[in-house]
Amino acid sequence: MKQPSKSRPWRPLTANCCSTKDQTKIGNFIRCKPTSRSDLSKDVAPMPSFRRLSFSDLSRSSSMRINEDLAQSFGSDLHDFQLSELRAITQNFSSNFLLGEGGFGTVHKGYIDGNFRQGLKAQPVAVKLLDIEGLQGHREWLAEVVFLGQLRHPNLVKLIGYCCEEEERLLVYEFMPRGSLENHLFRRISSLPWATRLKIAIGAAKGLSFLHGAENPVIYRDFKTSNVLLDSDFTAKLSDFGLAKMGPEGSKSHVSTRVMGTYGYAAPEYISTGHLTTKSDVYSFGVVLLELLTGRRAMEKTRPKTEQSLVDWSRPYLSSSRKLRYIMDPRLAGQYSVKGSKEMARLAQQCISLNPKDRPRMATTVETLENLQQYKDMAITCGHWPASAKSRKGASDNKIKIDIRVGATNPRKPSPLVASKKT
Ligand SMILES: Nc1ncnc2c1ncn2[C@@H]1O[C@H](COP(=O)(O)OP(=O)(O)O)[C@@H](O)[C@H]1O
Ligand SMILES: [Mg+2]
Repeated sequence: MKQPSKSRPWRPLTANCCSTKDQTKIGNFIRCKPTSRSDLSKDVAPMPSFRRLSFSDLSRSSSMRINEDLAQSFGSDLHDFQLSELRAITQNFSSNFLLGEGGFGTVHKGYIDGNFRQGLKAQPVAVKLLDIEGLQGHREWLAEVVFLGQLRHPNLVKLIGYCCEEEERLLVYEFMPRGSLENHLFRRISSLPWATRLKIAIGAAKGLSFLHGAENPVIYRDFKTSNVLLDSDFTAKLSDFGLAKMGPEGSKSHVSTRVMGTYGYAAPEYISTGHLTTKSDVYSFGVVLLELLTGRRAMEKTRPKTEQSLVDWSRPYLSSSRKLRYIMDPRLAGQYSVKGSKEMARLAQQCISLNPKDRPRMATTVETLENLQQYKDMAITCGHWPASAKSRKGASDNKIKIDIRVGATNPRKPSPLVASKKT
């Protein structure tokens, strides 16, 4: 697959905020040596230090140093905003402007006019206000700046700028008018048509494929519906790079990390060993494919035990179109391609293989999904759609129980793998 050209070569970069005695200079960038903070020492094995987003100091001098480093590294590609400016454009982070809420903090809509900054066009933006408790929040903020600040692709949300003032950490992104896939897919009444689901799956797959195919591969680590944002024409863009990680180097097969992510989406071998590979993202992608097919969430604690995990519940239905129709999203009302859904289910099945080696690469996944766009056979017109909802084992209550609210208190929201992260 042809990758769009990048504005400049992608290179691993970190900003500096550890104390001077813990630093090593590498070209323009400064390495942070591992600190003794307990949450960092939980890493399974030390990472090359320039990739380690490890921070021991959130003092005023640190934030000043970070700003200097980021300004030097990114130049005019990223804007360094003042907190007062971001307050002004979001009406002091008013709840009326709230776009969403994740484990990281709240996201508010703002509007930048043409006179805001030189070289910055008038546009609506999304401002993420980091809920900074401990180091994790700061690490996530910095990971987003470092990754999204350098990676540019039509299927990645564009980072416009950041703000680092004393203990405040904010991010400014392009505004995505249709919000997250989560908000559309699990809505009670309105539904995403089959062709739109396919378009979203292809866009998100291209985003992941770009990350995995980069010169220095990046593992996204938190692929899920709330992190897939939608443009006005339903182009999918990945956002929320707070957990992204550089892939293994050289002959290494994996990177070893503290296990973080979201239950229901995280690959089983990653949860049990902490070994992270690009195939961990492929597993999560398979889970989202299942969500697109069934309209069910990856993990739903309010369902009967056997139905709580989407992967476990759906696995026996994925191998034949005869069985598959029983778990297809009732909101589609039979308006989906039988052939397309069958092949998407087969792809999902491969993606959620227990052995990571049996999972396809994301580039292959993109091709497979693009081929499904040719199918126009609708289940409703070829008798594949069961007349009675009662015959749809286990799927009949899908319509009534789903809570579309975005928030940490939603019992249907996926739960974090570690307390500090994420919804
Ligand atoms: N650029 C954006 N445009 C519109 N809505 C957004 C944007 N960024 C985030 N959101 C909304 O805010 C929610 C949380 O954002 P996210 O970046 O995932 O935060 P967290 O890191 O806290 O999980 C998203 O699921 C989405 O609903
Ligand atoms: Mg998120």
